[in-house]
Amino acid sequence: MSSDQFGVHKWHIFKFILLIFMIGGVNCDLTISTLGPSLVNTTVGSNVTLVVTISGVPDPVITWKMGSLPVVTWTLGSSVAPDIAIIHRDVLKIETDGSLTFQNVSFAYSNTYTVEIVKSGFKTVSATFVLKVYDYIRNVSVNTEPADALEGAEKFTLQYSTLQGEADQWRWYFNSVEIQNNSHYTVGQKSLVIHQPNRNDTGPYTLVLTNPFSTVTFHRKITVLYGPDEPMLGASPSQAFFVSGDTLSLSCQAEGVPQPSTSWMFGGQTLPVSQGGSLNLTNVQTSQGGIYTCVLVNVNTGAQRKRNLTVNVYESPTASPLCSVSAVNGNVDLQFHCRWPGGTPEALLSFPALTNATSGAGDVNLTIPASQDLNGKMVLCRANHPLRQTRCNITATGPAKFLPMVLTTVDREGKIVVTIHCNSQAMPKAMVTWSKGTELLANGLQYQISVDTAQLNIHDFNTSTAQLYTYTCNCSNPLGNNGKKTQLLGPTISDSSLFPNQNGTIVTMTWEVPPTSVITGFDIQMSGPDLLTVTKNGSRRKRAIEGFRSIQQRPGSSRSTDISVLDPKSTYYFRVIPIAGRTQGEPSAMQRIGPGGLSRPQIIGLAVGIPCGLLFLLLLIGLIYLCVYCCRKKRQQNRYPVPRAVEKVVSTQPDVNTPNHLLTGGLKPLPDYNRMTSQAAPAERSIPLPTFVAPPPVRTATIV
Ligand SMILES: *[C@@H]1O[C@H](CO)[C@@H](O)[C@H](O)[C@H]1NC(C)=O
Ligand SMILES: *[C@@H]1O[C@H](CO)[C@@H](O)[C@H](O)[C@H]1NC(C)=O
Ligand SMILES: *[C@@H]1O[C@H](CO)[C@@H](O)[C@H](O)[C@H]1NC(C)=O
Ligand SMILES: *[C@@H]1O[C@H](CO)[C@@H](O)[C@H](O)[C@H]1NC(C)=O
Ligand SMILES: *[C@@H]1O[C@H](CO)[C@@H](O)[C@H](O)[C@H]1NC(C)=O
Ligand SMILES: *[C@@H]1O[C@H](CO)[C@@H](O)[C@H](O)[C@H]1NC(C)=O
Ligand SMILES: *[C@@H]1O[C@H](CO)[C@@H](O)[C@H](O)[C@H]1NC(C)=O
Ligand SMILES: *[C@@H]1O[C@H](CO)[C@@H](O)[C@H](O)[C@H]1NC(C)=O
Repeated sequence: MSSDQFGVHKWHIFKFILLIFMIGGVNCDLTISTLGPSLVNTTVGSNVTLVVTISGVPDPVITWKMGSLPVVTWTLGSSVAPDIAIIHRDVLKIETDGSLTFQNVSFAYSNTYTVEIVKSGFKTVSATFVLKVYDYIRNVSVNTEPADALEGAEKFTLQYSTLQGEADQWRWYFNSVEIQNNSHYTVGQKSLVIHQPNRNDTGPYTLVLTNPFSTVTFHRKITVLYGPDEPMLGASPSQAFFVSGDTLSLSCQAEGVPQPSTSWMFGGQTLPVSQGGSLNLTNVQTSQGGIYTCVLVNVNTGAQRKRNLTVNVYESPTASPLCSVSAVNGNVDLQFHCRWPGGTPEALLSFPALTNATSGAGDVNLTIPASQDLNGKMVLCRANHPLRQTRCNITATGPAKFLPMVLTTVDREGKIVVTIHCNSQAMPKAMVTWSKGTELLANGLQYQISVDTAQLNIHDFNTSTAQLYTYTCNCSNPLGNNGKKTQLLGPTISDSSLFPNQNGTIVTMTWEVPPTSVITGFDIQMSGPDLLTVTKNGSRRKRAIEGFRSIQQRPGSSRSTDISVLDPKSTYYFRVIPIAGRTQGEPSAMQRIGPGGLSRPQIIGLAVGIPCGLLFLLLLIGLIYLCVYCCRKKRQQNRYPVPRAVEKVVSTQPDVNTPNHLLTGGLKPLPDYNRMTSQAAPAERSIPLPTFVAPPPVRTATIV
């Protein structure tokens, strides 16, 4: 043990004795009391004193600590200057009673101050003060981060700052309701955080900052940007489609802050819009139908929304639908067509009777195998357009029975051209094949078949061989065929008649030819006195000439002629000679005109003829009866209708409606030579041609 350690021991023992003395013997205690509050608030720059009152013992040692750091030490009442930390000497000053005074205090002196009073032999006492230095709160501002609240953002922060003064209380209000910490808000010391701000957070925010010396209220309106929301799109008037020429307006509206800007796009082009974002379309055309895109933009956030609106502009096809049928696949199948082009959208076409499928739009073809079910059956095409529903129909038929028509002409070289026309009613139009005898005819030099095959031209026709050949035309379409033979005849007259005028100066001669006769003209011949001619002095010359002589030439189409001027007192004989080129046919029967009186041979003939005639008459009556019976039976069979006009014509107007005329004159009623059976060639000589049998001529008796 060292002498030092011994010394320390001695000091401890002394202290112990002193303590006993103090507790037991000394009555006056060291006390300290604070006058005023232990919490002292002050404003910056002011003078403030932490006041203490010390009593009990003289001259204690006073120590002021700032926090735990002693800043002032002084023995109370001592003449020795207080020990003040150099850096605080401008501010801190100890009063004679031990109070601590701050001069022109600054924020740095906000702290906890402890005063300790120590006197040997006495218990150390202490007191604690809290000094808070404030400033008046001035120039508060609130900054936001980001600048604008955005709906759907993670957070939005309001941060306040003051140019002067610190608050020790801060309260935030939204719509006058104080904001509390919760999942939506975090109230921090300097900030308010709004988590996931939405449009409902828009409104007035109030910040109230308080310290003991001032209260400042700050208002700030916060707008939460959002949108464009889902827009409302619509066309006005509201309808499923528009018709070209209509006027309409497209609207596109959406919520948003700021109000979204609206534009319309169509076909890649931006269209001008009127206020409110509506797009007006006047006199709209079908080209303006389609997808319109509304583009909404929030100009602040750049958020954009596009929505499509389909505008249907329809237009009905102008014309009516057309139905037709054609033969395809080598005249085997039928192709039904239905066309109704031009509409918007294209019309939907279907053949409901043929197929269940809606066949298509605008133009539809349907090919089906020909079957007899289709023969004569009306096939309907249903044509549906949003603006118009209609239909068309077509009836396919096999070739009908027909009569060939024969026309004879003369070409530039004077050669005969015979044209046979086989026109069979059929749908689709029949294809005609031609043969001569058994030889199939092809287009060539002598035989020329028309493009539609319905007509055969026989060039350089030799009338002398006319009877040798049978020309057959066979009309066919997928629904069937119908053939007809034509036996051409040389120039032939089948009948002739004579009609005089009242005073017997003019006669009209009429004649008929078989329909298949090849004729280019007629030679009218007369026998008897010369025709009268009127001379200057009014005298008439008359000269009797024996034998027939030509008096007129008539063209092949002619069937009558007038002959003048006759002498009513003379007897004339007339006949017609058919001509084909250079070939002359058999002359017609002679027709007589003139005063009665029979020539001698005629009288003899009559004398012999009367009994024979009676017999013949009986036979004739029998024959007529038989004929009528037969005809009735025949009429029950199917026949072409006989145009009544034709029958009349034969007796009264012999000049019209002959076959040759038909070809040149277009469609006129056909002569009824239907009575010829379809197998029999019309020109077989042995078969009489009933319709061409003239009615009993007026002057039958004159026929010799
Ligand atoms: C503070 O005290 C000092 C010295 O005693 C004096 O000059 C000054 O004017 C006082 N300040 C105030 C605000 O009273
Ligand atoms: C602070 O506010 C006062 C009035 O309250 C004003 O005069 C002064 O210009 C403001 N200072 C700044 C820096 O804004
Ligand atoms: C709110 O909560 C934050 C932390 O979540 C906290 O720092 C703040 O002091 C709280 N404010 C209030 C007013 O309770
Ligand atoms: C567009 O049409 C609306 C009503 O349909 C009308 O109010 C508006 O003025 C029109 N705007 C323009 C630019 O024509
Ligand atoms: C809108 O229409 C355009 C064509 O005009 C198309 O490219 C786009 O995909 C459509 N948008 C929607 C949402 O249907
Ligand atoms: C159309 O469909 C019905 C039922 O599916 C069927 O009975 C009918 O035969 C069909 N008609 C035609 C023409 O295909
Ligand atoms: C068939 O078409 C004709 C005209 O081509 C028309 O007159 C007739 O009314 C149509 N019939 C039906 C049943 O549609
Ligand atoms: C017409 O046919 C006959 C008999 O075959 C013949 O003698 C005559 O020369 C022919 N005429 C012409 C112009 O070819």
